[in-house]
Amino acid sequence: MAKKNWNVGVIGCGFMGRAHSNAYRKVANFFDVPFQPVLKAVCARTRADVTAFAERWGYESVETDWRRLVERKDIDAIDICTPNDTHKEIALAAAAAGKAILCEKPLARDSKEGAEMVAAVERAKVANTVWYNYRRIPAVTLARQLIEQGRLGRIFHYRAQFLQDWTISAELPQGGTGLWRLDKAVAGSGVTGDLLAHCIDTAIWLNGGIDSVTAMTETFVKERKHNLTGKVEKVGIDDACAFLCRFGNGSLGLFESTRYARGHKALYTFEINGEHASIRWDLHDLHRLEFFDHRDEGLTRGWRSIHVTDREMPYMGRWWVPGLQIGYEHSFVHQVADFLEGLAAGKPVAPTFAQAQLTQQVCDAVLQSAQNRQWVEVPQR
Ligand SMILES: NC(=O)c1ccc[n+]([C@@H]2O[C@H](COP(=O)([O-])OP(=O)(O)OC[C@H]3O[C@@H](n4cnc5c(N)ncnc54)[C@H](O)[C@@H]3O)[C@@H](O)[C@H]2O)c1
Repeated sequence: MAKKNWNVGVIGCGFMGRAHSNAYRKVANFFDVPFQPVLKAVCARTRADVTAFAERWGYESVETDWRRLVERKDIDAIDICTPNDTHKEIALAAAAAGKAILCEKPLARDSKEGAEMVAAVERAKVANTVWYNYRRIPAVTLARQLIEQGRLGRIFHYRAQFLQDWTISAELPQGGTGLWRLDKAVAGSGVTGDLLAHCIDTAIWLNGGIDSVTAMTETFVKERKHNLTGKVEKVGIDDACAFLCRFGNGSLGLFESTRYARGHKALYTFEINGEHASIRWDLHDLHRLEFFDHRDEGLTRGWRSIHVTDREMPYMGRWWVPGLQIGYEHSFVHQVADFLEGLAAGKPVAPTFAQAQLTQQVCDAVLQSAQNRQWVEVPQR
């Protein structure tokens, strides 16, 4: 029987516009999704760019004003793949128009904007999710399953890093296409909202809520030419951030992120130490989960490197044969598959806006602590 179409309108055709378009195209080939995603329309500000993108990915139509896209009757879901300063305005309009919303992370520039977005989707009762896609890398999902099964026992430590090295040059400008992440007005913050937000979302998912934080941030290059004004302007973002935290379950957290770690491009790692066992994961080797179980027999006890490709592993039964791994882009396919299942069942799909807002509140507390040089309690919604 033919499936009902699910018409998507994607806003933004950069990095995430591509990652999501790829996911919508592939999902029904690999997963028995209840709806057939249709690439109905894509929106970006320049007609030439958006038309070329639409032709490459097979979109049926283009828009150059996101408001027109949101108003269209033939669109079921709005996918926000634009820089952070646009998330709130688009989400509020999409919620008022009754569309399902898939919003890129971070939810917003700060938790004040995030709270308005949560209120809007809850008032409108529209399905919503935020693309914290690392949850759906099979090895990370497996980590969650092992923790839920109690294999680690009581958790003592959670440690995460997200390291890059692409902003070290003082000659790099800030602002505009490709460099909006360096512009505080657009991004909201630097590595805290861009990179640590991923680490925080995964941490909350795996280890529960964060109660309090103490942080330090640094901006190594204080002024950069702004691409939009042509003037040398103060840099407002945090180039690096490190924070300690206490989780609600009594464990201690240690998080670090920087764009000044020469040699590292996207080194997202986490390690969790429990009473019985430890888990370690590394984005550069994303299909592996390292696991140490103290209860193993002594002579062969040691760190296992689990190749997460067997059919019983999360999501892997849908892909190739055991032993053949998948990659980064598949986490987006998984999120679409789960979202469509949730839509059919009328159930929320994590992380919802409300869940992503918890990450936003931790980010705000981290930035506030760095400024005040004091521990900050994280508000719990
Ligand atoms: N989940 C992840 O791992 C991940 C990875 C990268 C980026 N992101 C998030 O995705 C969002 C987009 O990041 P990106 O790397 O794709 O950025 P990008 O700069 O590659 O692309 C942004 C796109 O938005 C378009 N755009 C900007 N303002 C617009 C407007 N007013 N109307 C219509 N289009 C507009 C730009 O033309 C461009 O096509 C950000 O919120 C970012 O934090 C998430």
